[in-house]
Amino acid sequence: MAVDRYGVMGYPVSHSRSPVIHRLFAIQTGQELQYELLQVAPDKLEMAVRQFQRTGGKGLNITVPHKGEVVKLCDHLTERASTAGAVNTLSFQDGEIRGDNTDGFGLLRDLVVNLGLTLEGANVLILGAGGATRGIIGPLLEMQPSSLRIANRTIGKADALVQHFSQFGQVSSCLFNVVPVTDKYDLVINATSAGLHGDSPPYPGAAISAGTLCYDLSYGLKPTPFSVWAREQGAAQSVMGWGMLVEQAAESFRIWRGVRPETTPVLKQMKISA
Ligand code: ATR
Repeated sequence: MAVDRYGVMGYPVSHSRSPVIHRLFAIQTGQELQYELLQVAPDKLEMAVRQFQRTGGKGLNITVPHKGEVVKLCDHLTERASTAGAVNTLSFQDGEIRGDNTDGFGLLRDLVVNLGLTLEGANVLILGAGGATRGIIGPLLEMQPSSLRIANRTIGKADALVQHFSQFGQVSSCLFNVVPVTDKYDLVINATSAGLHGDSPPYPGAAISAGTLCYDLSYGLKPTPFSVWAREQGAAQSVMGWGMLVEQAAESFRIWRGVRPETTPVLKQMKISA
């Protein structure tokens, strides 16, 4: 019998670690599967997804820049994907395309389980108001933080997210240069794509104290500009998003294969190979 096929679709996608992570999960859990890198330009997304489905593919991870667009191709969306307005995991079953989003779950697992952070009652600041922010607000609010503030270069985008999510909890917006620092932030998340473009925006230094955990959704071979900056500000911890990457992948693997892989050894291996 043919081996079940999975893959990650993005543009560009050559840098993706997902094939390595899923191969390690497959070895660890004794599952036989194939996982491919699929570089697909935005105007070819629908064709590529349907072709993958038609040729018997079982599941796809969807990454930048397709997470929002792919929602339209789904016959069924989980609640968390629908709230996020973005999909990073597709399952092909009974002729249907099911869309889920494991990003927020992956971030929470890393923060709460791996890093031991208590989010209930915490003050949280998110920098950026793009797709990455939208994907994590719902799961963060479910943990009942005392406050969640979204700071962005363009206030209109932060305001739109506040409007969308205010039914789920205490959430507010501001510009980068006017972040209120009356409350100490327990967690500051960089969800901008500035670092990817080699930019260093004027992040709000006054928001960082000796009790702040700084988390960059980006990760790299070298420390990201935000993680270097956070350390310089005296943050308690400055962490890159390797853990979120591995945890979101584990949740996708569970959805597809019904088995939850152990993430700790894979995370160690990823960091070593980084
Ligand atoms: P999306 O995720 O929606 O595709 P993006 O263009 O990748 O969006 O940007 C994600 C976030 O990074 C946005 O909040 C963006 O700020 P704006 O809303 O003001 O565009 C932020 N961002 C990207 N580059 C930035 C930079 N150089 N300085 C500050 N913020 C930046």
